[in-house]
Amino acid sequence: MKIYITRELPGDHLEKLKENGNIVGISEFNRPLTYDELLSRSIGSDAVLTLLTDKIDANFMDAVGTQLKIISNYAVGFDNVDIKAATERGIVVTNTPSAEVDEAVAEHTWALIAAIARRVVEADESTRRGAYRGWEPGMFLGTSLIGKTLGIIGLGGIGTMVARRAQGYKMNVIYYKRTRDMACEESMGVRYCNLDTLLSESDVVTLHVPLTAETRHLIDKTALSKMKKSAFLINTARGAIVNERDLVESLRSGQISGAALDVFEDDPNITPELYYMPNVITTPHIASATWEARNKMGEQAVAAILDTLSDKKPENLVDETVWEKRRK
Ligand code: DGY
Repeated sequence: MKIYITRELPGDHLEKLKENGNIVGISEFNRPLTYDELLSRSIGSDAVLTLLTDKIDANFMDAVGTQLKIISNYAVGFDNVDIKAATERGIVVTNTPSAEVDEAVAEHTWALIAAIARRVVEADESTRRGAYRGWEPGMFLGTSLIGKTLGIIGLGGIGTMVARRAQGYKMNVIYYKRTRDMACEESMGVRYCNLDTLLSESDVVTLHVPLTAETRHLIDKTALSKMKKSAFLINTARGAIVNERDLVESLRSGQISGAALDVFEDDPNITPELYYMPNVITTPHIASATWEARNKMGEQAVAAILDTLSDKKPENLVDETVWEKRRK
């Protein structure tokens, strides 16, 4: 079978793909492939291991050929893949959710919450440029988290782990989700509320929903106007959940106090004003970048290909219904 990998991955899992005489091709570039490169290199493949930076649409699927059986997406999110088009064609799509990724993203979310509340990045930048002249009573005053309210939008695997860590900070946790999670409410003392209440009551709002047609620009001018002027927005989910232009305006006008962003609406392009705002922290989509998480992602992405090519139902099928009508 022919397998194409759109970028070299950390760890040694890709080696396993070479078993059973598979012919494995890996991108020669240390950057995302352009759409044309992606297409030309994938043609004739039975399996393609893709990244969230690869746009996998119906045109791609048809161009690769009718032998294409699986798109194994090395990410939890799958907004880069046209799932409906894949299912219509009988192509399996898998993703890589795991406790390791959830933990990593929750840890990074907390790194950002603590850093924005205590102005860590601003203070570090000031020290490095030699501005420190000794202790001062009013220097870099931040915001205490204890007793404040954390609003979690999306209480799935990652949101739950973010909530669990809030107990250590002694924060009150409220959450908004399509369906209430009574088990989490009982075990962690989190309180369900509607989106408007969450926005208006939270001192920190953190996003943990996937990017879908419903969540695109969930946080826009109207939503931001409901937040406290002292509040911070954290986004480690997907950039387009936030209208970045509206966010810039809200930060500029003091409508909210600050934002810490790991993802951007037009990733990897960042609205330039964000670079110059001291009350903004930006990290380059690294929330899941731990050895543990990326190792697990590689293991899962490879296993999904090997399973599918040997006609065994893989784990983490994005649309389970495809299995009955899969290509063989
Ligand atoms: C994912 O897996 O979707 C993450 O965004 C990757 O960091």
